Amino acid sequence: MAAGPRLAAGRWLALRRTMSQLRLSLRSPRLRRRATEGVLDPTEAAAARDVIRGWHGYDATPLVTLPGLAALLGVEAVWVKDESSRFDLGSFKSLGGAFAVLRALQDQIERRSGVRPSAAELRAGHPLAPKITVTTASAGNHGRSVAWGSAEFGCPCVVFLPEDAIQARALAIESHGAEVVRVAGPYDAVVGHTDRKAARNGWIVVSDTAYEGYEETPRRVMAGYTLLAAEMLEQLAAAGARPLTHLFVQAGVGGLATGVCGHFAQQCGDERPRFVAVEPWRADCFGRSLRLGRASVAEPPFDTAMGGLAAGVASTIAWEFLEPLLDAALALPEAVWAAGAEALESGRLGARITAGPSGAAGIGALLALAALPGLRRLLGLDASARVGALVTETRFD
Ligand SMILES: Cc1ncc(COP(=O)(O)O)c(C=O)c1O
Repeated sequence: MAAGPRLAAGRWLALRRTMSQLRLSLRSPRLRRRATEGVLDPTEAAAARDVIRGWHGYDATPLVTLPGLAALLGVEAVWVKDESSRFDLGSFKSLGGAFAVLRALQDQIERRSGVRPSAAELRAGHPLAPKITVTTASAGNHGRSVAWGSAEFGCPCVVFLPEDAIQARALAIESHGAEVVRVAGPYDAVVGHTDRKAARNGWIVVSDTAYEGYEETPRRVMAGYTLLAAEMLEQLAAAGARPLTHLFVQAGVGGLATGVCGHFAQQCGDERPRFVAVEPWRADCFGRSLRLGRASVAEPPFDTAMGGLAAGVASTIAWEFLEPLLDAALALPEAVWAAGAEALESGRLGARITAGPSGAAGIGALLALAALPGLRRLLGLDASARVGALVTETRFD
């Protein structure tokens, strides 16, 4: 191990013990290498970024180095993009759902009136917006983004949450004026309930995951997420940093990975970093899909504190897009995010960040790899590696 900051002995031992459950999945040769056109259209994504950069309160989130973690891993550098303060909403999700609400309202109003309103016109108060209700199922963060977008652009919003979602998440959504409805059963039941209610009431579903026959809105959500990657590339260039060789991205349904990896791939071409998806051990649909060489689902129950990553099925278009791009996936036992959150909170990695379970998963994965030289070798994490990771949310409890 490289010299530098060390983990406390007890924490190190606990990590080593739990690491035996960390699962690395590498690509099956059966997977398609040819890229898919259309899922992430560069022109549309650029338009999404321009719109979001113009929103009141927009600021790039910090990209900081973690020299302590780089020393533990024995790599040249670790950069972390800290999304915990994005639009003061606590997660990167504010980039996607709110943008999709804007586009859904523009489409609906144009259909009804023949005139497409601008974002500024909606914000100033468009007479048709209050007559259009948007809705979504959410584990919390996406629902908050949709609720915030609805408040910004003037339409009512109903968010369906799983029964066991923590109260702080419900309150955060309600603080934007949205109605929160809790639904019993697994997340699939929440999604089904949302669709039925929407069909019955004529509401517009603004979901972050795609399924057969429902793709346009999730594509817009992912276009919004590309801003995170665009900022990273700009910030790395401004810091005079050499290009990343690896990028670790949390994966739930895969929208974030599509937006972020997609933008890096489109901008960097052959010089792109290796992409590693990070997901809970109990909801490892990307790892399974990589290993088995075809889209695969994880078996419920997805009992993990990493609620934003607790997806057993990838968004259809996310997998279609990521299949040729993803290099590996890491499935994490619960102790890993906890180690990541604790290390980030302490500041000993080089920056002090408050992160929730899904938010800390990427840094937790890197901490775990510090104790696993065999996996580091398989991933090509050596002294010349420059690693990117994301803190995707703050802590909500
Ligand atoms: C904090 C956080 N990180 C990561 C993700 C994963 O994003 P996606 O579902 O687009 O893969 C989510 C999804 O809700 C999330 O809330």
